Amino acid sequence: MRVLVTGGAGYIGSHTVLALLRAGHEVHVLDDFSNASPEALARVGAMTNGRIGLTRGDVRKDSALDAAMEGFGPEAVIHFAGKKAVGESESAPLLYYDINVGGTVALLAAMDRHGCGGIVFSSSATVYGSPDYLPLDEDHPTRPANPYGRTKLMSEGIIADWAGATDGASAISLRYFNPVGADVSARIGEDPIGVPDNLMPFIAQVAIGRRKELAIFGADWPTRDGTGERDYIHVSDLAEAHVAALAHVAGRTGYDVCNVGTGTGSTVLEMVAAFEAATGVAIPYRLTDRRPGDVKSYVASVDKARDLLGWESRRDLPDMCGSTWAWQQANPNGFRD
Ligand code: NAD
Ligand code: UD1
Repeated sequence: MRVLVTGGAGYIGSHTVLALLRAGHEVHVLDDFSNASPEALARVGAMTNGRIGLTRGDVRKDSALDAAMEGFGPEAVIHFAGKKAVGESESAPLLYYDINVGGTVALLAAMDRHGCGGIVFSSSATVYGSPDYLPLDEDHPTRPANPYGRTKLMSEGIIADWAGATDGASAISLRYFNPVGADVSARIGEDPIGVPDNLMPFIAQVAIGRRKELAIFGADWPTRDGTGERDYIHVSDLAEAHVAALAHVAGRTGYDVCNVGTGTGSTVLEMVAAFEAATGVAIPYRLTDRRPGDVKSYVASVDKARDLLGWESRRDLPDMCGSTWAWQQANPNGFRD
């Protein structure tokens, strides 16, 4: 298929472009490089001998969307472009609504102009908010606790309404749990700018000596060892879930939502231990207060992904930790080396 990938130069996008090319799809990327490096796509191109079309531009701009779609004629779109920092969404909510919600509306309108009826959308498990029960299935109530989460839930609703009103349209929102890790080549990976918000890149930067120690946010959660529990999923598994979602979208009409996780939770201390075991590097840590807005546990029900997409995660914690470390060692300053 001809697939337009918005935000295709970013962390999840670059791994997905790699998986798409390997699965034989044609890819065109629209990215403004506000949080990514062109080097990521150059490396994916070199690894696949693949040709990746590129439009440098803003997903909110009709001119950029038209430039990306004219000539290429996408049969489907995977929509990653957007902003993802919870804290920043609280201090700059309008920016988040503009880029994440406005970008989705502009993209769907461009798809209408260019006769493209299929979309896979990057949503987040954060749309569920504080869990009533675990594992979280897709019927769990949605009540996101911050502007970022609300932009994702609003975008889901807009896409559902568009799919309902558009003949032949087909759409799915994938609710990612906690993507971590890097491609096994160590050529592409997560490259956060500044202090990482998320656990795994922080651990990797402690391991490489860029940061002194990990602060563990809360040791008094009602979990096995008192630290927060999450469903970490290897980014290459997540990338392959997009290839499966694309096949699903191509074969039907309508709208659906689907979790993408592993179904297994790991605590912060278990992640530290797994990283140390996979790499042989000790991670100094300090137990600190809980982070505002955090929850005890977040674990996915993965039944729907298996039944609807025929997809299941394949990679384990040692793969996640080992590939993160290989990427970090080979690229201590990310794509800026
Ligand atoms: P990322 O920041 O690495 O990738 C986003 C990409 O979009 C970047 O390449 C950036 O340059 C581009 N972009 C941003 N604004 C743009 C705009 N206005 N126009 C064009 N391009 C723009 O983030 P990621 O981790 O790869 O996440 C991808 C998507 O998945 C996001 O929508 C994010 O909200 C969602 N998501 C991520 C996670 C996670 O933990 N990483 C979890 C759940 C959902
Ligand atoms: C965070 C976001 C969530 C987003 C997800 C994407 C918040 C409140 N939530 O979720 O909306 O979808 O990232 O991946 O920001 N931890 C530490 N020390 C650190 C960093 C994290 O102890 O330096 C702990 C956290 O308290 C948590 C776990 O590690 O228990 C995972 O944290 P993180 O990687 O930030 O992911 P989420 O909190 O799940």
